[in-house]
Amino acid sequence: MASPSSEHVTLIKHPVIDRDLTILRDVNTKTEGFRAATRRIGVILAYHALKELPLKTFPVSTPLRETTGYDINQDVIVVPILRAGLGLSDALLQFIPDAKVGHLGMYRDEQTQQPVEYYSNIPDGVEDALVLVVDPMLATGGSAHDALCYLKEEGAQHLRFVSLISAPEGLQKLAGEHPDIPVITAAIDEKLNDDAYIVPGLGDAGDRYFGTT
Ligand code: URA
Repeated sequence: MASPSSEHVTLIKHPVIDRDLTILRDVNTKTEGFRAATRRIGVILAYHALKELPLKTFPVSTPLRETTGYDINQDVIVVPILRAGLGLSDALLQFIPDAKVGHLGMYRDEQTQQPVEYYSNIPDGVEDALVLVVDPMLATGGSAHDALCYLKEEGAQHLRFVSLISAPEGLQKLAGEHPDIPVITAAIDEKLNDDAYIVPGLGDAGDRYFGTT
């Protein structure tokens, strides 16, 4: 299987990310701190994920004279993989407040460790939009792969995958199955453990974000 190349994966390095990932990893961090750190990293990831959006120009009048104004010339659809993806989606919406949000519900079967899809609601317009699939933990890559296949079948042509922490195993899976889809991530951790959790990771991202531990 192909290995992830720097072309396929963008690992964002930033001191704020290092500080905030430490907050996320720390088992003693409370829900409020976990949410705030997720949002801050999400904003940095969003900045990178949206970097290549096309612009259109139009005339705008300042109080002094007319000049060139710019607006984004592509629809953006954010697709969190439920439920952990919801936390990261809010950060993306800060940049594109009119983005449509689709939802893909998947859970991991604890026995087989395979993703099971239980809900999907994808807005119209996926064919032309920039579609950002959001899941904080890219572990085995199973859910990410299923989500990307589903969206490709729906006609999506401009996909990006955004995660907080990625495992080498998940990156390798996406590089093999979806070499056309850029991955934007804030960390590449060591490995998966036998329960398919990312090590060192941060535990269960959904439980920690929603305070359900
Ligand atoms: N999902 C999580 O929330 N954490 C992991 O480590 C792996 C998958």
